[in-house]
Amino acid sequence: MQLSERIYYTGVQDRTKHRFEGQWALPKGISYNSYLIVDDKVALIDTVEEDFFSIFIEKVQRILGERTIDYLIVNHMEPDHSSSIRLIRKYYPEIKVVGNLKTHDMLRGFYGEDYKGNITVKQGDKLSLGHSTLHFHLVPMLHWPETMVSYLEEEKTLFSGDAFGCFGALNGNIVDAEMNVEPYMQEMERYYAAILGKYAQPVQNALKKLKALEIATICSTHGPIWREKLQEVIQTYHRLSAGETEEGVVIAYGSMYGNTQQVAESIAEGVAAEGIKNIIVHNLSVSEPSYVLRDIYRYRGLAIGGPTYNNGLFAVVEDILKRLAARSVNHHYLATFGGFSWASKAIKIIQEYNEVMKMKNVSEPLEWKQGANKNVLDRAFLLGRELGKAVKENI
Ligand code: FEO
Repeated sequence: MQLSERIYYTGVQDRTKHRFEGQWALPKGISYNSYLIVDDKVALIDTVEEDFFSIFIEKVQRILGERTIDYLIVNHMEPDHSSSIRLIRKYYPEIKVVGNLKTHDMLRGFYGEDYKGNITVKQGDKLSLGHSTLHFHLVPMLHWPETMVSYLEEEKTLFSGDAFGCFGALNGNIVDAEMNVEPYMQEMERYYAAILGKYAQPVQNALKKLKALEIATICSTHGPIWREKLQEVIQTYHRLSAGETEEGVVIAYGSMYGNTQQVAESIAEGVAAEGIKNIIVHNLSVSEPSYVLRDIYRYRGLAIGGPTYNNGLFAVVEDILKRLAARSVNHHYLATFGGFSWASKAIKIIQEYNEVMKMKNVSEPLEWKQGANKNVLDRAFLLGRELGKAVKENI
């Protein structure tokens, strides 16, 4: 698959893995994108997960024939892109691995070898391939410390690593203009929430740095190649990393026997009574966390609650709070609720997490003992109204 006079796509499609990084659902698979630049010199940009190496190497060899690869540019060391490095060196033993100081340190740590001929680059360094030149820009903590991007000047093409990537394998077409990108745009937000969400400030720093480049094409390591939707994609990263939210509410709950669920339903009705159209209810025993995180990133209001369990908080509720506390999600209005049967703990724990999350409580927490009776449901409705009002007024 040829993207331009010099650039070829050598990525692979993973449709068998259930969970990316062992935790994030992949209902539509994922692509591991790699690119070959064929000039006087040949550069390979990143590799693929090693389970797919045999498919990958055949693609590379079909393009190159008898030619060798001069440089392997390692923009990111997470093994979904780096685990084929040892194998590709068996096919191309003279290949020079190009990365920054941290890349080479990780290469030794992960794969135990000190590569002969390594090239260490710093911010702004250039590498001539003959008629074209690669520029390297360090973008640390996007989402690992060694992350960098590479820019092919003559083609105005940015090889962006994970940035601007998304879940979802590619289905024949690889360039955005050739496909319906809507599902990928949604998956970009889920990818951001799951993988990059903790690193809002580094994302902002990187966007600032990339502003200086004239970019016509973004080649990420996951998902479509962005040309037509380039500005929209960059804007999505601006919005998410700046914490910009839309009018809407996520109601996330855990429930054993339905009392907490009834409270969640009443809160939803209260929010709806304020005229809020975007209301998403997640039963945390059913919804996979990355979908919940994606929706929380998007919408301004969050109601979260669950029962006390074993003198603690119901586990699926605590799990999502832990994930939220580890991310930059603080531009939100919060309502909390929790029931108990004989000893109260849930509400206390939820509020302790909010000391880290720093969302704005719209009201006192709603707490009840045992059954969710009419009085409790009425209070839940009012709590929903309070939350809806705060989201609407956004002051
Ligand atoms: Fe696609 Fe951070 O690896």
